[in-house]
Amino acid sequence: MRLFKRAAALQAYLRYQSEQGATIGFVPTMGALHEGHFELLRHSMKDNTLTVCSIFVNPTQFNDMRDLAHYPRMPEKDIAALARLGCEVLFMPFESEIYPEGLDAPPPQVALMGLDQTMEGIHRPGHFKGVVQVVHRLLQIVQPHRLYMGQKDYQQYRIVQHMVEQLALPVQVAMVPIVRQADGLALSSRNLRLSPKARAAAPRIYQVLKEVLAYVSRHPDADLAQLSQKAMDQLNAPPLKPEYFSIVNGTTLQPVRHLNEAESVVACTAVWAEDVRLIDNMILKWPQPIHATE
Ligand code: PAF
Repeated sequence: MRLFKRAAALQAYLRYQSEQGATIGFVPTMGALHEGHFELLRHSMKDNTLTVCSIFVNPTQFNDMRDLAHYPRMPEKDIAALARLGCEVLFMPFESEIYPEGLDAPPPQVALMGLDQTMEGIHRPGHFKGVVQVVHRLLQIVQPHRLYMGQKDYQQYRIVQHMVEQLALPVQVAMVPIVRQADGLALSSRNLRLSPKARAAAPRIYQVLKEVLAYVSRHPDADLAQLSQKAMDQLNAPPLKPEYFSIVNGTTLQPVRHLNEAESVVACTAVWAEDVRLIDNMILKWPQPIHATE
């Protein structure tokens, strides 16, 4: 595996590879890699001749500086895992490579049309502007053919897809389904912080999401606002405390009352398990079979 820290060196290498006919898949991460990331990388490695993974803990997407300071960093372990997996290129840039004009440089002009004003956006002000800023810059450097984003952060996936559409960037955005543990808990680096009691309760989130899917499959005209409220009640059992449970239009991220109001419908939730905030989601309706790459 080749490791680059400088954008110019990476670009020179990728330009050469593209001239040789390589297709480039890109998986941006903030490190502390787990099976969820590996799944993104496997999809990329299957679809492309060359896969670039980036590890960069992006300061502009943290609204809590303590969270940034405590974000897990384990570069040696990540490098070894990527090499074992067969990832061809790792980009671990210095901050000055991503933000040559400093952290306050203006982000790309993309109207997010309220996509950042719901769900995670309410609880993490400024977070998605930071995500858009860093993903845009990374795309500018890597110029991949395909970009892989996890369904686990559905709102992030949708906002990145929207940015790509708005700026007409020549990259295909692929969504890779959530990877779960055997009991249904969605993989996240935060799971490591769960106490035994919180860990035992956490799979309830997936069970409730599955119950919602089963219900709408049997009752396609169900009132989704009522169903969300019921899901909130079901999740509200210590040590779990739900923050939101929203059934939204998969494109606009606005709540929908009935399944027939949108082409795609996704149930999204954030739940506190003691002091750890977990997010998860379930696709209730999708226009075509879900493939990582279309
Ligand atoms: O999902 C993440 O790890 C980050 O938000 C991303 C997409 C790598 C941008 O920093």
